[in-house]
Amino acid sequence: MKKFFKVILATTMVVAMTAALAGCGGSQSADQPKAGDDNESPQKETLIMATNAEFPPYEFHEGQGIVGIDAEIAAAIAGKLGYDFEIEDMAFDSIIPAVTSGKVSFGMAGMTVTPDRLESVDFSDSYATGVQVIIVKEGSQITSVDDLFADGANYNVGVQTGTTGDIYASDDIEGAGLGTIERYNKGADAVQSLATGKIDCVIIDNEPAKEFVAANEGLKILDTEYAVEDYAICFAKGSELTEKVNGALNELIADGTVQAIIDKYINAE
Ligand code: ARG
Repeated sequence: MKKFFKVILATTMVVAMTAALAGCGGSQSADQPKAGDDNESPQKETLIMATNAEFPPYEFHEGQGIVGIDAEIAAAIAGKLGYDFEIEDMAFDSIIPAVTSGKVSFGMAGMTVTPDRLESVDFSDSYATGVQVIIVKEGSQITSVDDLFADGANYNVGVQTGTTGDIYASDDIEGAGLGTIERYNKGADAVQSLATGKIDCVIIDNEPAKEFVAANEGLKILDTEYAVEDYAICFAKGSELTEKVNGALNELIADGTVQAIIDKYINAE
């Protein structure tokens, strides 16, 4: 059931394709104005997406802009619904507060639907699956997820603050007295810390894990999965946008647009 993907590393191509497909007029995703940008309708409303652009291939900085699967799906949704589109980059754990306070229209950040989050936000239907995996140094004595929970285990585990990796590890490891958690603002910082031997492993989503491991020598992803999750877009509770955006999302799933965007960034082997 485990899927192996090859990451597209031709980033310049990704950017070019992003600009072409997104065509969203959002300053973050395309730096050139495209033909058809609606200067004639300046009162067009803007959808603002909160994200944390430290999570390739879903959202990451490329040149001056933010690109990735979420950025492109959201731009396509905004385009379909006739909105302008902007991305606001922030800490991952600021996204839900920005959404609930109405500072942004929605949050999209490879965000997992969890019962806790459902208490403060509404979610769209899911558009992708995420798997929490463990990154270790090659030769690590941690060889499966179970090693983290073995009697007497005492590992120092890195996570990105506020992510499900953080939430699970806080309960299952720190809370159970089986180790300590180091929390980082960015997944990449956790991985850097692992590479330099400051921590024993990193718990993070599989697709960013693959990119971070590819970018660092001597790291690997354990075969066993910690958790399988659904990614969705979050909205302020009761927001009238939820239904509209969800409708557009489902049309983009049905007509193959979402899969095409995913395939651009993650190549099935
Ligand atoms: N899927 C995980 C979660 O929802 C991690 C998401 C991190 N996303 C990001 N853009 N940094 O908690």
